[in-house]
Amino acid sequence: MLLNGARMIPNDELERIRGDFPILKNGVGGKPIVYFDNACMSLRPRQVVQAMNEYYEEYPACAGRSIHKLGNKVTEKVAEARSTVAKFLGAKKDEEIIFTRNTTEGINLVSRSLRLSKGDAVITSDREHNSNLLPWQLLSRRSGVEHKIIYSTDNMEFDLEGFEEMMNNKVKLVSLVHTSNLDGYTLPAGEIVKIAHEHNALVMLDGAQSAPHRPVDVRKLNADFFALSGHKMLGPSGIGVLYGRYELLEKMEPFMIGGDTVQNSTYDSHVLLKPPEKFEAGLQNYAGDIGIGEAARYIERVGKEKIERHENELNKFISEGLLQMGGSIVGPKQVELRGGIVSFNIDGLNFHDIAIMLDESNIMVRSGQHCVHSWFNAHKIPGCVRASLYLYNTKEEAEMFLNAMAEIAKLR
Ligand SMILES: Cc1ncc(COP(=O)(O)O)c(C=O)c1O
Repeated sequence: MLLNGARMIPNDELERIRGDFPILKNGVGGKPIVYFDNACMSLRPRQVVQAMNEYYEEYPACAGRSIHKLGNKVTEKVAEARSTVAKFLGAKKDEEIIFTRNTTEGINLVSRSLRLSKGDAVITSDREHNSNLLPWQLLSRRSGVEHKIIYSTDNMEFDLEGFEEMMNNKVKLVSLVHTSNLDGYTLPAGEIVKIAHEHNALVMLDGAQSAPHRPVDVRKLNADFFALSGHKMLGPSGIGVLYGRYELLEKMEPFMIGGDTVQNSTYDSHVLLKPPEKFEAGLQNYAGDIGIGEAARYIERVGKEKIERHENELNKFISEGLLQMGGSIVGPKQVELRGGIVSFNIDGLNFHDIAIMLDESNIMVRSGQHCVHSWFNAHKIPGCVRASLYLYNTKEEAEMFLNAMAEIAKLR
């Protein structure tokens, strides 16, 4: 299959991008790597590492507390990072951006702070990452909130009609994976939000796999909450973002409070600060804040549409190759609906064995259930191999992957 060059990042730009990632030049064990495990964690460009090093070497102090030169510089840099992330997501105000540890913390924050109770219901889908499933199961067990599942269509697409039928005035929140880490499918978030809002329900999107790879504008989507992780979008690990509509954040109580969340306190009372501070308890991961800001800038420079098209074009090439060798692909049949992720099995071969054999050629993928155990259990599938792409991956890497897979497939 010929790749459509117009949909790819041009070769000269791709070369420049790859030059920003030392591991792509240095390889591992003296051999180049093909890194196709981006849904788990992306590589980081030197710009992000440099920005974080600058914090540690040039102004390693606290933000918002100390009023000396170093403290002021951190305060300024963190504010700048918050503003960059707000623009990256299309938020109305910088104060709608809460720095968290990761997507998981953002979802837990909403599940604890919304104060849902018995008589209320929450809807999630049938292919949620554990991070957007377990918090609702816990809430259901603790508070009697009803937890309902919307099942996908036979082609693994979102069932909008079924969803509309499920909606009633008990449903207070719809919390869905925006782009699935299982198969790369992106659900029709705009239409979902419209239906949910018509029924006065809020919508939270788990954006761990969408924000790094495609245009996301929370205001256009009209989403109420949106969570993401830095480590999947060229940023550091241990930092994430929760976007929340300001009017909602103002009304919500934090689930964790302490230093940096209060204006004042006495022995028996306290007055909380406004969002986002009231949700950012304790001394923060300033290097992480600065690093995720730099990562967002990097993605903006390349262009989100361009990244999305590039990954999907590579996915077409890889999916076709895998189908030709008798592979079965998880998710919608049309590759256009599967972004930059291809999850697959080859009959007669174990998915972990495939990953281990690929690793012998320094081709790195993930195998197993990808933290979506519930879907695999429901479908009685023990697991699969997942190749997940990003902006630095090339056609040559896709060919190396397919050549290695062709050899592995012969072992059946
Ligand atoms: C769709 C999705 N949601 C949530 C998560 C959890 O992200 P984190 O572990 O960074 O909180 C992941 C991680 O793989 C994911 O892919």
